[in-house]
Amino acid sequence: MPGVVIRGGEIITPLDRYTADIYCEDGLIKAIGPDLDVPADAEVVDAAGQLVFPGGIDAHTHMELPFMGTTSADDFFTGTAAGIAGGTTSIIDFIIPARNQSLLEARDFWMNNAAKACADYGFHMAVTWFGEQVEKEMRQVHAENGITSFKTFMAYTGAIGVDDDELIGVIDTAGSLGALVTTHCEHGLAVQSLQRKLIAQGKTAPKYHPRSRPTWVEGEATHRAITLARCSGQPIYIVHLTCKESMDAVTRAREEGVTVFVETCPQYLLLDDSVYDTDDFEGAAYVMSPPIRPKGHQEVLWNALSCGMIQHVATDHCPFRQEDQKSMGKDDFTKIPNGAAGIENRLALMYTYGVATGRISLHQFVDVCCTQPAKIFGLYPRKGAIRVGADADIVVYDPKASSTISAKTHRHHVDRNIFEGFKIEGGVSHTLVGGRIAFKEGDLRVVRGAGRYLPRT
Ligand code: URP
Ligand code: ZN
Ligand code: ZN
Repeated sequence: MPGVVIRGGEIITPLDRYTADIYCEDGLIKAIGPDLDVPADAEVVDAAGQLVFPGGIDAHTHMELPFMGTTSADDFFTGTAAGIAGGTTSIIDFIIPARNQSLLEARDFWMNNAAKACADYGFHMAVTWFGEQVEKEMRQVHAENGITSFKTFMAYTGAIGVDDDELIGVIDTAGSLGALVTTHCEHGLAVQSLQRKLIAQGKTAPKYHPRSRPTWVEGEATHRAITLARCSGQPIYIVHLTCKESMDAVTRAREEGVTVFVETCPQYLLLDDSVYDTDDFEGAAYVMSPPIRPKGHQEVLWNALSCGMIQHVATDHCPFRQEDQKSMGKDDFTKIPNGAAGIENRLALMYTYGVATGRISLHQFVDVCCTQPAKIFGLYPRKGAIRVGADADIVVYDPKASSTISAKTHRHHVDRNIFEGFKIEGGVSHTLVGGRIAFKEGDLRVVRGAGRYLPRT
């Protein structure tokens, strides 16, 4: 395959900003410098006037996830293709065994599904129950597959959620492996109790979903997850943190010397709970857990992001079609499949509403979207870096472009976009994945199965 040279772009990393060419060959960045001499057959990307940064990494996606009686609507091919169109070149998805299912059996199922991905992919292993067998299998997937992070759900009690005793077992086992535990923090039993009360009162519409999962239910679980990690002397990573109560718990723990990593998502930064104020079923598109929060929490998250207290902005991409999937909960909001799409829009939203508004710098943007997830999850410097020897996963972003997000034009395989009508400043002009131009000025040139599995350290 001929090489690719990206000419004259402004390279942005978490620390640097400079103009240079980048030459890519055999999947890797081979040279960086001014006016590079390259083979005559190299494909040229003219990046003058554009920004060039490492491919985005989304450490929280759910492609073709069997969940709540259905399966999320993007498979590993369509979901990673949408990601590439939006500048995301690697994902870390979740293997989620059913309660009492072998982790190895679930691993084989997910590995098989993911073989069709067109971007690179790794896995967190969710641990949905605990015992001797699980402990042994955690060690096995760590050793055999380079799975170095384990996910737990404190929500979804009775399905994939774990209790505190099980969570302690996961934290201790992961700790003995030097692996990281990540946690979905909501008090599962409290949610169930609130759900039961609302449904008994006939409050079945989507707008009651957020009332069954208030911020304090998340804040309590965040504090508890940190406490349990602290008992074992282990760090912890909080997924999709949404609210002030949780951020306060993190801040307190950090002041006391606990290592806590925090992830949030664009929907929690950019939407407020007025999205649920509708008497029709449209609010179902926003049914996700945790839910979109009341006004005020968004500012807390932006402030935390701008002062470096949030390490990663992921998507929790987990799309369900309104017409035949969300509708499963038409008469009972607790049966609406939880989740929404976002992988194609993440970088553009963070550029537009973070960088262009001055809330975060370009360097912070690259850090939280591209570099920190590589560092935290053991992919750096192969991923998340513009340096010689790194994988040639590169985004060229044209700051002069503009667009409007719509379900009519997005590449997610769903009929709604929770950011419908959001104006976007700039846009991805080219995405290189492993040295191949996989997206060029609106033209998606992805190859089914071209994505590589990413064992991690
Ligand atoms: O509503 C959500 N977030 N669905 C995906 C599963 C999860 O909890 O992350
Ligand atoms: Zn979750
Ligand atoms: Zn999730």
